[in-house]
Amino acid sequence: MKALVLSGGSGTRLRPITHTSAKQLVPVANKPVLFYGLEAIADAGITDVGIIVGDTAEEIREAVGDGSKLGIDVTYIPQDKPLGLAHAVLIASEFLGDDDFVMYLGDNFIVGGITGLVDEFRTEHPDAQILLTKVPNPTSFGVAELDENGRVKGLEEKPKEPKSDLALVGVYLFTPAIHEAVRSIEPSWRGELEITHAIQWLIDQRKDVRSTTISGYWKDTGNVADMLEVNRSVLETVEPRIEGTVDESSEIIGRVRIDAGAEVRGSRIVGPAVIGPGAVISDSYIGPFTSVSEGCRIDDSEVEYSIVLRDSSITGVRRVEVSLIGRNVQVTPAPRNPAAHRLVLGDHSKVQISS
Ligand code: TTP
Repeated sequence: MKALVLSGGSGTRLRPITHTSAKQLVPVANKPVLFYGLEAIADAGITDVGIIVGDTAEEIREAVGDGSKLGIDVTYIPQDKPLGLAHAVLIASEFLGDDDFVMYLGDNFIVGGITGLVDEFRTEHPDAQILLTKVPNPTSFGVAELDENGRVKGLEEKPKEPKSDLALVGVYLFTPAIHEAVRSIEPSWRGELEITHAIQWLIDQRKDVRSTTISGYWKDTGNVADMLEVNRSVLETVEPRIEGTVDESSEIIGRVRIDAGAEVRGSRIVGPAVIGPGAVISDSYIGPFTSVSEGCRIDDSEVEYSIVLRDSSITGVRRVEVSLIGRNVQVTPAPRNPAAHRLVLGDHSKVQISS
């Protein structure tokens, strides 16, 4: 069995971060989101992994290399344009050959891995197996309709009137039957070859398409809110550890990891939080659910529920919250405009002026 990991795409929902870097490499608890997927694949015993890459190919190659540090053997498959998930299968056909494979969207995050699912697929061996999860807002997802035996009757992409609340999760298990499907479908109105259409084609050909509904945590990290939410959930499981230096006037509370070479001076860090290697935190407050990457400098500031990518600095700013800050960014206070308040206040007035 092989794996096909999709790490191309245009990442419009994560602009401007994705103007200069791959969304699959945005760190969650200081580790690229893509690595969690690759580790889940390795844990399921799959070593032969094709990675679809687009405009950010170089950066992905630099981060993942030949895959040996993750225990996998990576083949890169360039995709000229993000022409859809089924297009990715089409261009990977030579790599995939006659093998079964798991297709994994590189920006998706699933807690609990995929080992159980892969084992179930190997034993039952339907033509295809999709993963579903209950969502409160099915109109934003690919949605599946199931029959009474849990077989998939139909799929719809972002339906106005969804037939269920079961959304497709970004992990699919396929036999080589999918290759004819992706060759048989036409591009959708948005010009993409849709994997939902290819799976619908299999269903229409009376192939056995099954589903597993997962109850665990799943998120597509395509937008900032979801990215921060995944970061929050992973930080809650981080092993507290202090390898960097923390001076006596600092206070570390709760689940906090401070990596080697990091320095904390005169600051208060309330976990869950991670501070990457070589980062310097001085005279600041770092609040819960914050990941500060390698080489960052945070001075005289307050940061909470945020991800700060590497080599950025935040100086004299309070407070930064619910933020995703790119690499090599500098955040400083705006110069203050001289301001005057002109007041005519009656007797006994009470006035609060923010200044
Ligand atoms: P999406 O998040 O659906 O698409 P996108 O990356 O273009 O993002 P946006 O909607 O914000 O513009 O893609 C899911 C995953 O699949 C993601 O890791 C990118 C990858 N992908 C490809 O590798 N090739 C493709 O043709 C497409 C559409 C996506």
